[in-house]
Amino acid sequence: MKPQLLLPALLTASASASPLNQTWDYIIVGGGASGIPLADRLSESGKSVLLIERGFASSGRWGGTWKPSWLQDTNLTRFDVPALYQFIWTNLTDNSGIICPDVSTPASCVLGGGTAINAGQFYLPTPMDWDLTDMPPAWHSQHMRSATARALSRLPWTDTPSMDGESYLTNGSRITISLLTNSSLPHAYKLIRANDHPETRDHVLSLAEYFFQSGERGGPMATYLVSASKRRNFHLQLNTTVARVLRTGDHANGVQVGPTYPGGLNGTIKLTPKMGRVILSAGVFNTAKILFRSAIGPREQLHIVQNSTDGPLMLDEKHWIERPVGRNLDDAPSVYLAVSGFALDTYDWESLWDKPPAADVQRYLHNRSGPLAEIQPSLGPVFWDEIRGEDSRTRVVQWTTNSGVLNGQGILAFAANLNRGHTSRGTGLEDYLRAAIATQPLLTSNHWVGSTRMGASCEEEGDAVVDAGTRVCGMANLHVVDAGIVNGVSTANPQGVFITAAERAAAIILEMDE
Ligand SMILES: Cc1cc2nc3c(=O)[nH]c(=O)nc-3n(C[C@H](O)[C@H](O)[C@H](O)COP(=O)(O)OP(=O)(O)OC[C@H]3O[C@@H](n4cnc5c(N)ncnc54)[C@H](O)[C@@H]3O)c2cc1C
Ligand SMILES: *[C@@H]1O[C@H](CO)[C@@H](O)[C@H](O)[C@H]1NC(C)=O
Ligand SMILES: *[C@@H]1O[C@H](CO)[C@@H](O)[C@H](O)[C@H]1NC(C)=O
Ligand SMILES: *[C@@H]1O[C@H](CO)[C@@H](O)[C@H](O)[C@H]1NC(C)=O
Ligand SMILES: *[C@@H]1O[C@H](CO)[C@@H](O)[C@H](O)[C@H]1NC(C)=O
Ligand SMILES: *[C@@H]1O[C@H](CO)[C@@H](O)[C@H](O)[C@H]1NC(C)=O
Ligand SMILES: *[C@@H]1O[C@H](CO)[C@@H](O)[C@H](O)[C@H]1NC(C)=O
Ligand SMILES: *[C@@H]1O[C@H](CO)[C@@H](O)[C@H](O)[C@H]1NC(C)=O
Ligand SMILES: *[C@@H]1O[C@H](CO)[C@@H](O)[C@H](O)[C@H]1NC(C)=O
Ligand SMILES: *[C@@H]1O[C@H](CO)[C@@H](O)[C@H](O)[C@H]1NC(C)=O
Repeated sequence: MKPQLLLPALLTASASASPLNQTWDYIIVGGGASGIPLADRLSESGKSVLLIERGFASSGRWGGTWKPSWLQDTNLTRFDVPALYQFIWTNLTDNSGIICPDVSTPASCVLGGGTAINAGQFYLPTPMDWDLTDMPPAWHSQHMRSATARALSRLPWTDTPSMDGESYLTNGSRITISLLTNSSLPHAYKLIRANDHPETRDHVLSLAEYFFQSGERGGPMATYLVSASKRRNFHLQLNTTVARVLRTGDHANGVQVGPTYPGGLNGTIKLTPKMGRVILSAGVFNTAKILFRSAIGPREQLHIVQNSTDGPLMLDEKHWIERPVGRNLDDAPSVYLAVSGFALDTYDWESLWDKPPAADVQRYLHNRSGPLAEIQPSLGPVFWDEIRGEDSRTRVVQWTTNSGVLNGQGILAFAANLNRGHTSRGTGLEDYLRAAIATQPLLTSNHWVGSTRMGASCEEEGDAVVDAGTRVCGMANLHVVDAGIVNGVSTANPQGVFITAAERAAAIILEMDE
């Protein structure tokens, strides 16, 4: 395959005029799972959109260059090849700059956000994800149907990423499926394709489903960002960290930025007077951080910022907006169980960077086929159970399985994620978080949500941080659109939910500005 670097229009556009010298109708902070789809949809309106990303380019499509030597003459980077995913969990490569240095659980700080480094598992939202997570009525499942359809139209999914239509290293998967669906079991699981059946998550089993395309990572960077950057009214600014929103009372005027790396901007970027909006899509932790620095949050938290080196730049206390940012933070607790003694295929993934099997490399480079087109360790099926507890709460547990090698032995690993029905969150999570940090990678599912809780109305719900229009309470033109506005953990790996939420938010914001 001939290397072909698609030179994005934005790189040439950025040469002519600096974003510092213009005003913008929409400034979106954070080019991740939510920010990229949002930027694309808002830019369809013809209004000017600036997407500011703290990190550097990840995928080769956007100028990324980080790769093992065997990808040298290709348009691919470590972020584009599904099988290179696991290096994020190892210290076999230098991963600095990929994982946010200021967040204590793994979060991505490169272009694409989580979608650049995650396992690519992509599940469409289920009705439960909206109706049982304390979302306001305007975000219940009957209002999310068209947003879901729009997300699906941009991100087709597959359970067989390899382009030859084959699955590799399937023993673990096959064994798990045959054990759980065995009809002589009193309650055998039903095998479904999860994205074809979003209505059921009780005692069902599915192959893992991914947004991978053409044997490459795909996702929002390969779809939404491509269409956005063809528009002259859209600009992507990399290597630039937003420190705070600049505001006069309840009106945002722009953002203050600093360079994360060379080529990043330093200064203030302004909104179009009166009609412009700032939208924070920096992820649950970084959006909260930006809000705190913008004097929006719980009083005790704002006092901490006031006492820090950011203090001198902070608004006077009489302009503080007290809202419980962070209080509703949530994730699914996760526990692992490993079973050995099966005839499992094993693969020497750890050698993939330096000494990959030549035949597999050829198969991948020529045909995007073979084990390198899959995420690894080879992910087995996922399955769900709804359990009604003695306390009459319904709990939804999602099990994920994969096969790997431990001490030279093939093992099947089962992770149980308590996605729905757990009872502690927010500040009540403190002990849990300390334990999670101490025992990484145990306990956290990395499916954080809810730090900027969405309410139906700010006036009536003191615990809301944003209203149903995604607007920050107390602000006229500042929004949050990311995992933080989804009020509870979803039934499956959540990026499909966040992308759908971004679709819905784009429609709401465009309607406000009609
Ligand atoms: C290792 C890992 C594996 C995962 N696997 C899966 C999976 O297989 N399937 C799934 O559904 N989910 C998975 N997840 C979770 C999923 O990726 C996240 O939930 C999702 O990306 C969150 O979306 P978001 O838009 O809220 O934030 P993100 O996608 O994290 O995007 C936030 C963006 O904002 C940028 N940013 C941060 N601060 C600033 C700032 N101050 N200024 C400018 N830009 C800023 C960041 O660099 C980032 O690009 C995984 C997560 C991790 C960490
Ligand atoms: C902004 O515009 C002014 C005048 O139009 C120009 O002199 C200056 O170099 C520009 N600054 C940047 C950063 O592009
Ligand atoms: C690499 O090039 C191939 C062939 O032109 C193309 O299909 C693919 O989308 C490109 N991938 C990236 C990440 O640029
Ligand atoms: C890398 O990880 C291994 C195993 O987890 C550990 O033994 C080793 O000390 C680590 N190396 C460095 C340089 O951190
Ligand atoms: C199903 O379970 C029964 C009883 O344990 C066992 O005899 C049979 O071999 C199993 N079938 C499969 C396909 O695993
Ligand atoms: C962004 O920073 C990275 C890392 O320092 C650098 O390699 C890259 O060239 C920079 N990109 C731009 C567009 O300036
Ligand atoms: C950013 O600009 C400010 C004000 O002009 C300056 O003091 C600071 O040193 C600059 N920072 C960087 C990293 O260039
Ligand atoms: C802030 O600093 C003052 C003075 O040093 C101290 O009294 C106060 O406790 C600090 N507050 C917080 C929240 O750290
Ligand atoms: C995978 O399963 C098949 C069929 O049971 C078996 O023949 C094969 O040996 C297994 N592979 C390994 C590596 O154990
Ligand atoms: C790629 O696929 C073609 C057609 O199936 C096949 O003939 C060829 O051998 C494959 N190339 C590699 C390197 O696997």
